[in-house]
Amino acid sequence: MQPGLVERLAAIVGAAHVLVDAEVVRSYTTDWTGRFSGPATLVVRPSTTEEVAAVLQACAASHLPVVVQGGNTGLVGGSVPPPADGVARPAPVVLSTVRLAAIGPVDRVSNQVTAGAGATLAGVQAAAHAAGLSFPVDLAARDTATVGGMVATNAGGLHVIRYGAMRSQVLGMEVVLADGQVLSRMSGLVKDNTGYDLSQLMVGSEGTLGVVTAVRLRLVPHQPQRAVALLGVDSTAAAVALASELRRQADGLSAVEIFYQDGLDLVCHHCGLEPPFSAERPVYLLVEAVGRDDVIDQLASVLADTGIDDEATAVADDESGAARLWAYRERHTEAISGIGVPHKLDVTLPIAALADFERAVRLAVAGVSSDAVVVLFGHVGDGNLHVNVVGPPPDDERVDAAVLELVASLGGSISAEHGIGRAKVRWLGLSRSPAELATMRAVKDALDPEWLLNPGVLLDPQVDGGSASGDE
Ligand code: FAD
Ligand code: MLT
Ligand code: ZN
Repeated sequence: MQPGLVERLAAIVGAAHVLVDAEVVRSYTTDWTGRFSGPATLVVRPSTTEEVAAVLQACAASHLPVVVQGGNTGLVGGSVPPPADGVARPAPVVLSTVRLAAIGPVDRVSNQVTAGAGATLAGVQAAAHAAGLSFPVDLAARDTATVGGMVATNAGGLHVIRYGAMRSQVLGMEVVLADGQVLSRMSGLVKDNTGYDLSQLMVGSEGTLGVVTAVRLRLVPHQPQRAVALLGVDSTAAAVALASELRRQADGLSAVEIFYQDGLDLVCHHCGLEPPFSAERPVYLLVEAVGRDDVIDQLASVLADTGIDDEATAVADDESGAARLWAYRERHTEAISGIGVPHKLDVTLPIAALADFERAVRLAVAGVSSDAVVVLFGHVGDGNLHVNVVGPPPDDERVDAAVLELVASLGGSISAEHGIGRAKVRWLGLSRSPAELATMRAVKDALDPEWLLNPGVLLDPQVDGGSASGDE
């Protein structure tokens, strides 16, 4: 610990918000999955943009790395320090955004709201709802995930098929750079062609370019009706075909999600749920549509045209019924973590390659770890599958390499929505060309010349060259 550091930071945020007790600091240093963990010098909790700027200036003056942490629900290790033998020396300061949680009044003229980086997704959704509007991004970690973390990861979630990911909701941002400069662009102008869009540059930057302190978000009309159908089908290919048909036919389609019988069994066992219907099918599709009226009838008629299998179908158009069906899909994450520390490989494929990938990925994992448990689920409407592998030790990366190399060989991306974090830095070159990597490093050099923000996350010149063995 640098002499005087605690006092300098305490003078900025107040002594109560500089956390140095080892036990307390430890509660910030392991990620949600339990796979990534590393020591921190201390935790600092600023409550305003000015305090964030002063904290970053103090850290820069001491050449101290800073790890930004929102809700710590990220799944690629980006919100916690690197392991003791990792890249950061000395151990980083964790900057928690928990006190930047204000949500402004909803502006019903522009249909926008300003939210602090530390505001939770559920908080923003509730504020929008109270004003007769909706915030269109949703994910199961809604009670804990923050606006800042969702912007930093360009979170996707359950409704990308209808509304786009977090990037599509961002109309402005306040962000503090590594040297303490504040960039503020919060007027919410829908059109603004005055050069580089620096707010959008921050989206998906995973805390490596600046600390987001507030975001101007677009809101969408509230859709009073919602219909959900859970359908058992015979194969991934059938699920993909049905998803494509629904995209063509179903007005108001807001989610098309996939999971498999083994995942359903795991969820039912872990959460104490009864299966949705007595018939079993290898693959399940959860479909949601929203609208103003007749939503359930419209969805039922589209499904009837596609040759619905009555034995393996459940439908709901009331809140509790919809929540019951969604639980089978949403609770996969916690159920998988219930059986061990997962390797979480969140990937997108061209839709046409998804069925081949599903078959090939199971073989690829078996090829490197014969007793690994593989659980697949995801957002099939976006071509996004979550490949979860439990069994190999957290630091055994052979399975990660096998899956990500397969994805690249089929023309996919190694990260659909969770980001690169610490988990996938070695394989970034599978999805980004040398010229793109060089440009990204040049941006990093320009905004954070000492590479103090989130060192080892997303970019690491020592290891992000694209070779699975790291030796090219
Ligand atoms: P953190 O985990 O705290 O941080 C994530 C990254 O953002 C880190 O690199 C961190 O340094 C950076 N960061 C955080 N705050 C800031 C800031 N203010 N400024 C700059 N950088 C910052 N993700 C999806 O995309 N879709 C899903 O459907 C989805 N479902 C999930 C379900 C569960 C049960 C769980 C546990 C996670 C899920 N996630 C999902 C992953 C996770 O919720 C998202 O990545 C989310 O965006 C992380 O938000 P957070 O506030 O927890 O960020
Ligand atoms: C989800 O879609 O539920 C998430 O992205 C979380 C996960 O992959 O576990
Ligand atoms: Zn997801």
